[in-house]
Amino acid sequence: MSAAAETIAPSTQTQEWLASDHNLLIDGERVAAESGDRIEVQDPATEAIVTTVAGAGPEDIDRAVAAARRALKGEWSTMTSYERARVMLRFADEIEAHLPLIAEVEVLENGLPRMISEFTILKFGAEFMRYFAGWATKIHGQTIPVSPMDARNGETLTYTRREPIGVVGAIIPWNAPLAMAILKLAPSLAAGCTMVLKPAELTPLVALLLGELAHKAGVPKGVINVVPGYGHEAGAALAGHPDVDKISFTGSTAVGKDIIRASAGNLKKVTLELGGKSPFVVFPDADLERAIPGAVRGCFFLQGQNCMASTRLFVHEDIYEPMVEGIAAMAGGMQPGPGLDPASMLGPLISEQQRDRVMGYIDAGKQSDAELRCGGEALPGKGFFVRPTVFGQTNMEMKIAREEIFGPVMCIQTFGDSDLDTVADEANNTIYGLSGSVWTKDISVAHRMAAKIDSGQVSINCHAAVDPAIPFGGNKQSGWGREFGQEGLEPYLKTKATTVLF
Ligand code: NAI
Ligand code: MG
Repeated sequence: MSAAAETIAPSTQTQEWLASDHNLLIDGERVAAESGDRIEVQDPATEAIVTTVAGAGPEDIDRAVAAARRALKGEWSTMTSYERARVMLRFADEIEAHLPLIAEVEVLENGLPRMISEFTILKFGAEFMRYFAGWATKIHGQTIPVSPMDARNGETLTYTRREPIGVVGAIIPWNAPLAMAILKLAPSLAAGCTMVLKPAELTPLVALLLGELAHKAGVPKGVINVVPGYGHEAGAALAGHPDVDKISFTGSTAVGKDIIRASAGNLKKVTLELGGKSPFVVFPDADLERAIPGAVRGCFFLQGQNCMASTRLFVHEDIYEPMVEGIAAMAGGMQPGPGLDPASMLGPLISEQQRDRVMGYIDAGKQSDAELRCGGEALPGKGFFVRPTVFGQTNMEMKIAREEIFGPVMCIQTFGDSDLDTVADEANNTIYGLSGSVWTKDISVAHRMAAKIDSGQVSINCHAAVDPAIPFGGNKQSGWGREFGQEGLEPYLKTKATTVLF
């Protein structure tokens, strides 16, 4: 069946919203790009052009940064932390109230199944915003007993203030448009920063919609500016801008390195959430009833376009066959189709280019000694669909096991009765270190193995546990810094120490 044979039309409300101008959002106003450029937004399930948006160039980035700089000194800076929190809570309410609209827009621009979109809107939209609204009123410094110069005890006072870091440039990818935007917006608002948000050129719509909702909720103009544009133009201009204080980036490791180079001009502070090739280690006593669906969800969530994806399975040889069989049966049964169709369990990949890139890896896998256990092909007809693909008998010499594919491709390899260090060395044999999981009923093996995995996050008997309060980020070439939780607020703050001599 051609997955995109029939499509379900979005609601009238969504169609009306799609028909609006989709200009840049700068200083609370919708404005065309100075160059007049437009970028087409394509539905990856049907290949139809959904609408076009203004495409920002360097001159528009200048305007947006200037607006964010003004807003940093305006009404926003005089609001109390309680008022900031209230605005954020209203923003969360607006997100929840517009759930069907946001979901349909996200499905149309990204392709993900509607149910997954709705889940992320609630969990990573509304709840994430509310979690960080709570932090807004809990940001404070310290008083420190010191005696600088020749002061005697009691003759001085030193205190620290936590100030907003300033104008933040956020550059985000296309794989989860709503979540990626909120992950940057929430801590930035809590800290009192202002932002220029550059969504991915492939998925600019949800970010623009969020900008509208933020203003409806009472975020003052200029605090959130949304500037769709290409990476090498708008993204590079933002990363290199002399009046941006910090860049928060999520995307590929290669561009992450470009961001670091671009930030050197004014020594911007940089946080990076980059790629991954996360291990999923299954010991022989593991509960396969949980490990099999855990591996399938972990790998094929967002069609595998997910930085935490469980793409490298290490399975003990005693349970290899039942594990691989179970995974292949479950993955093979995932119904591909347009995200607006409630029967669809797997959407298309984001673009033709990404589909071809992923198929290139699948072909490399087929030519290697790995065994293809399910999938291995793109669907004919419209849409960039690729069947969930599982390769068994892989090893870390293979390209498919080493490189981030960012598509629905799982590599499974075995281990024998070796000591934990040998298994851990193999799991850590990657340039990445974002996520990982350990599956066993033996609590001692579980915690010892979790400690040995070199990644920012490890889950036991689940994969990629994410919650607004759990710190998230990468070791090695998976990134710099952490998002989520209290640690995720820190990069948006700077400390000022003030000393008074009585
Ligand atoms: P990308 O890293 O090029 O795009 C991410 C964002 O960076 C987009 O907003 C893009 O416009 C921007 N960008 C691109 N070049 C830039 C530059 N020179 N300066 C500033 N901003 C720039 O990712 P892309 O090309 O869409 O995907 C390629 C591969 O990257 C994927 O197949 C996947 O392996 C990886 N990737 C990983 C992600 C993750 O979350 N770990 C997310 C997206 C991509
Ligand atoms: Mg790129």
